[in-house]
Amino acid sequence: MSEFEKKIAEYKSKIKSSSKIEEIDLLRSEVFGKNGIINLEFKKLVELPLEEKKSFAANLNKIKQELQDIYKTKSTEILDKDIIEKVEKEKIDITLPEKEFKIGKVHPVSQVIDEISCIFSEIGFSVEEGPDVENEYNNFTALNTPENHPAKDMHDTFYLDKDMKTMLRTHTSPVQVRTMLKGKPPFKIIAPGRTYRSDSDQTHTPMFHQLEGLHIDKGINMGHLKGCLNYFIKEFFEVNKIKMRFRPSHFPFTEPSAEVDIGYRMENNKIIIGEGDKWLEILGCGMVHPNVLKNCKVDSKKFQGFAFGIGIDRLAMLKYGINDLRSFFECDYRWLNHYGFDPLDVPTNYRGLSR
Ligand code: DAH
Repeated sequence: MSEFEKKIAEYKSKIKSSSKIEEIDLLRSEVFGKNGIINLEFKKLVELPLEEKKSFAANLNKIKQELQDIYKTKSTEILDKDIIEKVEKEKIDITLPEKEFKIGKVHPVSQVIDEISCIFSEIGFSVEEGPDVENEYNNFTALNTPENHPAKDMHDTFYLDKDMKTMLRTHTSPVQVRTMLKGKPPFKIIAPGRTYRSDSDQTHTPMFHQLEGLHIDKGINMGHLKGCLNYFIKEFFEVNKIKMRFRPSHFPFTEPSAEVDIGYRMENNKIIIGEGDKWLEILGCGMVHPNVLKNCKVDSKKFQGFAFGIGIDRLAMLKYGINDLRSFFECDYRWLNHYGFDPLDVPTNYRGLSR
């Protein structure tokens, strides 16, 4: 046995008997490295006579391959063993209880929707929903919107087709249409939801939230509307008295139409609702236009009623002192942690809304 063959036999048994990855890596460089025994042996090739070169190289390649196979088998075995040991050591019992609970927060918009639903449910309103993607008829035509109304403008509405027949709803009012078309009067519903308009600054975002209200029955008048809104605003802002005024306005779907302002004053940078001599517009409303009732298959000789539309985000900003509307939709965890609500503290009328 040559000196080289002896060394090879030695390395084979060393590789086979090693148990650590560092150990086997060292052996690898001693055997296959630049100055390893295989390479040194190959260097002898230059000195050999031509007729011996071929068989010498072939034999050496065979030895190299054998060693590589042994190395590969052993290193895989060591690595597998290491992984199994690691998994065994790091095993955790997922059935054990948590040491620390981190609870998520409810977004102020969701909180306000819950609060509003709670307030209106007390006086007999139920909650309806409609899709974000609406058709032209429900969003505009059925609501008595004239063909050339500015709200239909391409710049305001996100149309989803070239014919301008499908769009992201620009308000929650189409839920009025859907509700009346699928049922029979009386109707007493609110419909909270997402709405979309092409607008963006400190007080406008392309997606925002509205709440629609609709009460249709026999003999409903503006007095009922006023009483209903008065109750709602007092309950929502959790105050005993409010100042409220109706300003004449125009909406195609109501006649007469009004905008409602509430009185407030500022104290240490905080808005105090119900007192003071400043006015803030918070909603649009009116008596449902007979054309809308006709389009929704309701007999306007027998039934009439009121409708209103409120900006939910605006209410949340006012009640919880949040200045920038855009921050609502930035998904900043720190913001949510600060302004969000405890998910287990669901608003109810008897336990209090926001406390
Ligand atoms: N849809 C109106 C808007 O988005 C708001 C509104 C006004 C809704 C008057 C109503 C209403 O139901 O009666 O500006």
